[in-house]
Amino acid sequence: PKNVGILAMEIYFPPTCIQQEVLEAHDGASKGKYTIGLGQDCMAFCSEVEDVISMSLTAVTSLLEKYSVDPKNIGRLEVGSETVLDKSKSIKTFLMQIFEKSGNLDIEGVDSTNACYGGTAALLNCVNWVESSSWDGRYGLVVCTDSAVYADGPARPTGGAAAVAMLIGPDAPIAFESKLRGSHMAHVYDFYKPNLASEYPVVDGKLSQTCYLMALDSCYKTLCNKYEKLEGKQFSISDADYFVFHSPYNKLVQKSFARLLFNDFVNNASSIDEAAKEKFAPFATLTGDESYASRDLEKVAQQVAKPFYDTKVQPATLIPKQVGNMYTASLYAAFASLLHNKNSSLDGKRVMMFSYGSGSTATMFSLRLSEGQQPFSLSNIATVMNVGEKLKARHELPPEKFVDLMQLMEHRYGGKDFVTSKDCSLLAPGTYYLTEVDSKYRRFYSKK
Ligand code: ACO
Repeated sequence: PKNVGILAMEIYFPPTCIQQEVLEAHDGASKGKYTIGLGQDCMAFCSEVEDVISMSLTAVTSLLEKYSVDPKNIGRLEVGSETVLDKSKSIKTFLMQIFEKSGNLDIEGVDSTNACYGGTAALLNCVNWVESSSWDGRYGLVVCTDSAVYADGPARPTGGAAAVAMLIGPDAPIAFESKLRGSHMAHVYDFYKPNLASEYPVVDGKLSQTCYLMALDSCYKTLCNKYEKLEGKQFSISDADYFVFHSPYNKLVQKSFARLLFNDFVNNASSIDEAAKEKFAPFATLTGDESYASRDLEKVAQQVAKPFYDTKVQPATLIPKQVGNMYTASLYAAFASLLHNKNSSLDGKRVMMFSYGSGSTATMFSLRLSEGQQPFSLSNIATVMNVGEKLKARHELPPEKFVDLMQLMEHRYGGKDFVTSKDCSLLAPGTYYLTEVDSKYRRFYSKK
């Protein structure tokens, strides 16, 4: 099979959200801290009737329907998530309800978990499967689903929630350049979830930022080296049209892209003109550690990067800024933003993707886009995802409601024997929602 990659996509995020400006005022943070400091506009969250299982049921059902894919035609289904509702039973098995109806029980794959990276692990598995001798000619299906919630404090505004479903197969409009990949995996305690009684992570915010940037540098180096070996010439940011990042909050994306320009400077790459060289010169002799700590370098790099950021990164920032960190779905929601903003002009473009999961695991990989053919075309994917309408149809809740909800969910986490309000009035038709968790912890869902 040739040009294996993503044939179709669907995205779902909860209709319930809060404006960052409102949350900022409610939390007593200084004005602009969440909106300019973190670069975030709005944050989605699950109400008591939604969770990672309901969101993924919604996304998968909608994808199969809207692209007219026969459920019998799925041969592998993998889920990436770090939201734990069960320590053994995978989210994939819940999704099997959709396929059992059509009599298709022959579907490989389970869940992958490592912070925000599980979706990428699932995606690489599916792509590798289609490229392998075990492939039986059917589609792969990847689902990234997470609800990111943090304890009250500085990390809380970096929450979010969404599910993304992606259909995998040959002759894809979004094809993997499988040789162009670089990974960085290490043992660090930057963000982890050791307390099984709580949904909240333990997070060292500053350390997680540095770990993210170190992994980025390392992946970029590896990818540049591989490119040079394959193509016989140097790689720089000029060789890709777009850069899409895992997006915990937009400020980190700005800093990350700026970091790539500093890497290009260190490599003496062609993307850095004389004026930029002069600006970077004072930082040429910094050690790695010094460079992560230097606020001056950060400022200069962002300045140099600004015009490139506007064309190569900004089109892929809409959903992460509007919905927040969606953990495993974050990178793919950023990519969905690019399709939404640029769908008619993406034929032939190369997109660099950077996936980071704390702990830590990271991969940079390259996608090659082509318009494709109905229903698996870039413009149809943008139409199906209908991002603009979905964002517009949301309901802003006041901060008091948001805080009450967080408390209710804290209380319910890991619990049994309760029914939800079943109030699905804010949900769009076709959305799945949680109705009950019975005395044996079994979860039940309905479709609106
Ligand atoms: N106006 C404008 N900017 C402001 C204002 C203001 N009024 N107040 C603060 N800021 C800026 C700060 O200068 C800082 O920007 P800078 O980094 O460019 O200097 C930014 O807002 C954040 O403020 P800080 O005080 O540095 O950090 P804070 O204590 O608010 O924590 C953090 C931010 C660490 C991101 C926290 O939200 C967190 O821990 N989030 C979860 C961890 C995370 O997302 N890590 C990313 C990688 S791992 C992952 O994906 C989970």
